[in-house]
Amino acid sequence: MERTLAIVKPDAVSAGNIGKILKEIEEAGFLIAGLRMVRLSKAGAEGFYAVHRDRPFFENLTSFMSSGPVVVMALEAESAIGRWRTLMGATDPAQAEEGTLRRRFGSSIERNATHGSDAPETAASEIAYFFRGVELG
Ligand code: CMP
Repeated sequence: MERTLAIVKPDAVSAGNIGKILKEIEEAGFLIAGLRMVRLSKAGAEGFYAVHRDRPFFENLTSFMSSGPVVVMALEAESAIGRWRTLMGATDPAQAEEGTLRRRFGSSIERNATHGSDAPETAASEIAYFFRGVELG
């Protein structure tokens, strides 16, 4: 079993797409081991995306991610990291396959509806950013 962090980003929350995304997650066979709605501060978003701090999009990305509430989840499944990335589709919704979450609910590379961890080490640190071990089912 593997765990990944999933985020429903502010664009998808404000558009009323939390339920549709959770339905896809459950129907795809993930166990939702943890789930919270949080409003990140700017500093909180900067901490979460610290690996991107030298990128040109860092300022816009962290402003956007702190612009409204997000839903953070720890998802559990076999190969959860790769399977969640497949369900989300490519980072840029315009490049994402038909039927994927980012294609359906994203509108730009920044407002791309969902986030997922990219490797086991980042999954562990990203999950720990939002959840204490005792909070996970
Ligand atoms: P996410 O999976 O949350 O991880 C980092 C985010 O940075 C990514 O999704 C995109 O929303 C954003 N991102 C990556 N590349 C770019 C880019 N070239 N321009 C703007 N935002 C980007």
